[in-house]
Amino acid sequence: MLGRLNHVALAVPDLAAAAAVYRDTLGAHVTAPQALPEHGVTVVFVDVGNTRIELLEPLGEASPIAAFLEKNPSGGMHHLCYEVDDIVAARDRLKASGARVLGDGKPKTGAHGKPVLFLHPKDFFGTLVELEQA
Ligand code: CO
Repeated sequence: MLGRLNHVALAVPDLAAAAAVYRDTLGAHVTAPQALPEHGVTVVFVDVGNTRIELLEPLGEASPIAAFLEKNPSGGMHHLCYEVDDIVAARDRLKASGARVLGDGKPKTGAHGKPVLFLHPKDFFGTLVELEQA
C-alpha cells in the first residue's frame, strides 16, 4: 500500500525567510509560494532530488499549524507524506485496522492537485502522516 516518500514538511514562522535559506544558503531550487486556503497554509517546495521538502507557513485565523508553531516557535518537522495508489482504498484499510483519519475522512485536494488525507499522529508513533494519491 505504502509508496514513496513524497515530501517531508517543516512548519516555519516566516516562509520567505525559510525559502531564502533553502535557496541562498543551501543552494536548492525552491518553488514560488502557493496559498492553500482549504488547508490553512502557504507552502513552497524544495526539490532535493530523491524527495521534496515542504515549507509551511500559517494562512488565516484557524490554521492547523498555528498551535504547532506556538509550541515550536522556531519551526520544526510537521509531517511526512507518503504516496499511495488508491487513497480511498488506503483510507478504508487504515480505518478497518483502527487508525484515525483526521477531519471528515474525505480526501481533500493537496498542494499538487492530488487527493490527500492526514492520519492521527498518535497512531503513527508521534508523527503526523499525510497520504497523497500518486
Ligand atoms: Co504535506
